[in-house]
Amino acid sequence: MGKSIEQIESEALKALEAVSDLENVELLSTKYLGRKGEVTSFLRSLSKLPQEKRAEAGKKANQIKKTLEAAFNEAIEKFEAATSQTGDEIDVSLPGRPVPRGTLHPVTRITNQICEIFTRLGFDIAEGPEVETDYYNFEALNFPKEHPARDMQDTFFVSDNIVLRTHTSPLQVRVMEKQSPPVRIVAPGKVFRCDSDITHTPMFHQVEGLMVDEGVSFGDLKGILTTFIHQIFDDEISLRFRPSFFPFTEPSAEVDILCVICRGKGCRVCSKTGWLEILGSGMVHPAVFENVNYDTPKYTGFAFGMGVERIAMLKYGIDDLRIFFNNDVRFLRQF
Ligand code: PHE
Repeated sequence: MGKSIEQIESEALKALEAVSDLENVELLSTKYLGRKGEVTSFLRSLSKLPQEKRAEAGKKANQIKKTLEAAFNEAIEKFEAATSQTGDEIDVSLPGRPVPRGTLHPVTRITNQICEIFTRLGFDIAEGPEVETDYYNFEALNFPKEHPARDMQDTFFVSDNIVLRTHTSPLQVRVMEKQSPPVRIVAPGKVFRCDSDITHTPMFHQVEGLMVDEGVSFGDLKGILTTFIHQIFDDEISLRFRPSFFPFTEPSAEVDILCVICRGKGCRVCSKTGWLEILGSGMVHPAVFENVNYDTPKYTGFAFGMGVERIAMLKYGIDDLRIFFNNDVRFLRQF
């Protein structure tokens, strides 16, 4: 026969004294008290003893087994209590865990900047529905029925009479229906066109502007837009008004600004022209005033509409429009 039960006991108790964590107590417990453990094997081996010695030896071995069990349980409890205690403790000197904070989307930031500039110039903010009726999106804005902008290629139709607004100009009509002159509003928001490539996304953002009062002239339009461009970019950026056509303005002008990248020398961004097309504008067409029952010879006004992404791209040096809407946090975190 190998070790005596006393030997096993003293070895086990010594080993137990040396361990310093729960994991090792459990390993030791298996080593001695497990199914193939030393104490268990010892007890099993007693069956080989002659009958008369068996009872006494068995009694002693069982007693030792109990002692060891108690010692191991005590150790397990001790280590368990110790670990749960560290979990409860609060180290008040630790720096707090930072809560990740979002940032404003670049399109939102630029929209806010545009609106702030116009607010300082005395304009109010107006908002309207993204799903529009044909009347507000086209009809009231003097779009003849056969105008190409009504073509399926540009417009998302919800039904014959309902469209996703293709521009923010419906706000001109909605605001004038509710309010008599003087009017000074800017209307930011999403617009939709069935178009998709590097420079077009089916959804983008515009800011509409409208000013109506007695004696508002094209000179006021130029003054307000020049002030705006100087504030959003800088004082060195000159403007160019090019004759254009919109059904709801007459005369109409496309506004170009000196290329903010090359300052007129000609580069890739301005297609070597030195100028960037930035917004559409004009004097409100008398037909639009008639549709909202404004006294048309008495009141005059101007309107303009600009693309927000275009301005954001120029301000931040972004060369692909689609990146705004990919929701890639590596891009968005930069703002
Ligand atoms: N709504 C026009 C567009 O989306 C822009 C515009 C607005 C032109 C106001 C003139 C006056 O292209």
